[in-house]
Amino acid sequence: MTGMKPSDTYMLGDRRVSRLGYGAMQLAGPGVFGPPKDRDTAIAVLREAVERGVDHIDTSDFYGPHVTNQIIREALHPYPDDLTIVTKVGAVRGADASWNPAQSPDELTRAVHDNLRNLGVDVLDVVNLRAMGDNRHPVEGSIDAQFTALAELQQKGLIRHLGLSNVTAAQIDEARAIAPVVCVQNHFNLVHRDDDALVDALAAQGVPYVPFFPLGGFSPLQSSTLTAAAKSLGATPMQVALAWLLQRSPNILLIPGTSSLEHLRENLAAAELVLPVDVLEQLDRMH
Ligand SMILES: NC(=O)c1ccc[n+]([C@@H]2O[C@H](COP(=O)([O-])OP(=O)(O)OC[C@H]3O[C@@H](n4cnc5c(N)ncnc54)[C@H](OP(=O)(O)O)[C@@H]3O)[C@@H](O)[C@H]2O)c1
Repeated sequence: MTGMKPSDTYMLGDRRVSRLGYGAMQLAGPGVFGPPKDRDTAIAVLREAVERGVDHIDTSDFYGPHVTNQIIREALHPYPDDLTIVTKVGAVRGADASWNPAQSPDELTRAVHDNLRNLGVDVLDVVNLRAMGDNRHPVEGSIDAQFTALAELQQKGLIRHLGLSNVTAAQIDEARAIAPVVCVQNHFNLVHRDDDALVDALAAQGVPYVPFFPLGGFSPLQSSTLTAAAKSLGATPMQVALAWLLQRSPNILLIPGTSSLEHLRENLAAAELVLPVDVLEQLDRMH
């Protein structure tokens, strides 16, 4: 790791995207279920993100369910040519807001059609197969049947590129024997670094690694080290957490989630923050 300013774009599939994108999960209601309290602000957040240069948005039709995609469509359709929307399939929501695996070929096909309909597109830019593992951690096991089903939908022209989420290195290898994998989205942030080796391996292959919960997720990161680092740099702790990820590896693409315009502006400004070597060393010890 160096103290150099990170390069600001990276290839995602066949498009070059800004490394600082946006994750849309926080736009649904509490618990990622039902409508948001403030739909107008949700729409304003998306529009401002794109106005400020975000060209990579992460979503799923199981956020809400359907709600987040419908808000994206209302805010941004017809989509700018250079906007890449990455969605994910592999789960459905119960009436009690639970997250349940939906990994059969039929369920995956239904999910792809739900995404097409609710986003209002004929082809999805990128679809990640979300392996269910134990929710936040991948668990070994074959994903052959699921990825084959998605590869068939790709061959039918419904999906441009395929990716994976919540997976192990072995599952990535298994999927690659079926179809190209253009991105991997796993749990990773300042204090959760199980994937250190995977980040580096994917960087060597030119494949984006997209951390979910880059700010710690539903309970954003809190640490005296982070607060002190932020204070020393005149930044906020969340900006330092994002800047650390940007400097961790050039293949890391960020999708911080927020329902707030103020937090959106703060997060996007993290692209300008360069962490000096001594601060990086302190942050590395948080692990
Ligand atoms: N593949 C997967 O399994 C998976 C799992 C989870 C998430 N994701 C994707 O990853 C994206 C990011 O994850 P996430 O949204 O769960 O977690 P996150 O980005 O780590 O953190 C979001 C939380 O941080 C708060 N926040 C954001 N910016 C802030 C700031 N500047 N200051 C203070 N608080 C701030 C948000 O609240 P406010 O709304 O109040 O800002 C929200 O509570 C999601 O949007 C989703 O697209 C994927």
